[in-house]
Amino acid sequence: VADKKRIALVGGAGFIGHNMAIKLRLAGHEPFIVDSLGINNYLSVSSTEEDIPNRKWYKTVLRQRQDLLEMAGIPVYIQDAREYHALSKVLGDIKPDVIILLAAVSHADRSNKDPFTTFDHSLRTLENALDYSRSCVSHFIYFSSSMVYGNFKEASVTEETICDPVGIYAALKFSGEKIVKAYNQVFDLPYTIVRPSALYGERCISQRVGQKFIERALRGETLTVQGGGEDRLDFTYIDDLTHGIQQVIEHPKSINETFNLTYGEGRSIAQMIEILQEHFPDVKVEKKERDKLMPKRGTLSVDKAKRLIDYNPQFPLEKGYVRYIEWYKKEYNFAGL
Ligand SMILES: NC(=O)c1ccc[n+]([C@@H]2O[C@H](COP(=O)([O-])OP(=O)(O)OC[C@H]3O[C@@H](n4cnc5c(N)ncnc54)[C@H](O)[C@@H]3O)[C@@H](O)[C@H]2O)c1
Repeated sequence: VADKKRIALVGGAGFIGHNMAIKLRLAGHEPFIVDSLGINNYLSVSSTEEDIPNRKWYKTVLRQRQDLLEMAGIPVYIQDAREYHALSKVLGDIKPDVIILLAAVSHADRSNKDPFTTFDHSLRTLENALDYSRSCVSHFIYFSSSMVYGNFKEASVTEETICDPVGIYAALKFSGEKIVKAYNQVFDLPYTIVRPSALYGERCISQRVGQKFIERALRGETLTVQGGGEDRLDFTYIDDLTHGIQQVIEHPKSINETFNLTYGEGRSIAQMIEILQEHFPDVKVEKKERDKLMPKRGTLSVDKAKRLIDYNPQFPLEKGYVRYIEWYKKEYNFAGL
């Protein structure tokens, strides 16, 4: 690229971060990962306190992440971003032009069960990264979420739709957006806020619905679906998001803006199951009660990102989910599971 950037991804060894670092590297940028490996990563997967049915597979996936990062020559700094001085020192060594803040307890369910930990890993890490950035970083990118909208009142939301978050995870994401904007008001820190949703793709271990379904199907287990599977989500394949973030970094019109970054079409869980059944014809489905804290959602309009930063998502479920299923069939069997 003409304008090569040094980019620090805080929380960058996670599902989104490692995929994004590889994408940015291939595009000619210089990504650096800062991560404690503590949440939804090596430390939590290694702890036997929790019963994790797929532990062996998750370890395989985490090793793959590490191998890919090593092959791409991406430096990884093991650092807890809650530690202000230590984080400032690491970032001072990296000297990034751009900081992307991904660290969080990235799961609404888990956040609601453990608000204290979530606050620390989400807002403390954000504040520490912002405070370092205010004097010497030219672009701060914050990972918010579609959860800030709360229950969708219409089938589709735009960035102008009023936010009404429900639950701990969503409230913290919304607070994070406000703090990022405050740093811009007070210190002129250039920022972009992104709101992704319902991501799926290679090497995710977050046990979101699309991943759970494939793993159950592979083990010959019955799928459980909340309600009748009528809930709609704007399922987004990881490659669409990483492309979107590259646009955010390279396009000057992203500065001081908020973008929905999804595929741009709400699809029902039942539709996802139909695609899965084409690849696992014997899979059975069982209904269970809907989780009341899960807001009713739908489409996030991506018109603004298309208009301002040439965002161009390529993967409807029929393409992205099928790719993901094929990857699983190959890797899961290869891992001898
Ligand atoms: N995956 C999705 O569908 C989705 C949707 C909307 C928003 N997001 C947001 O995107 C971001 C990344 O999500 P993900 O899916 O990659 O999650 P992930 O759980 O795979 O990755 C999060 C990473 O942050 C690291 N981390 C957490 N606390 C840390 C700390 N104190 N210091 C250093 N590192 C720390 C973890 O070790 C982990 O590697 C999160 O902020 C999440 O809330 C994700």
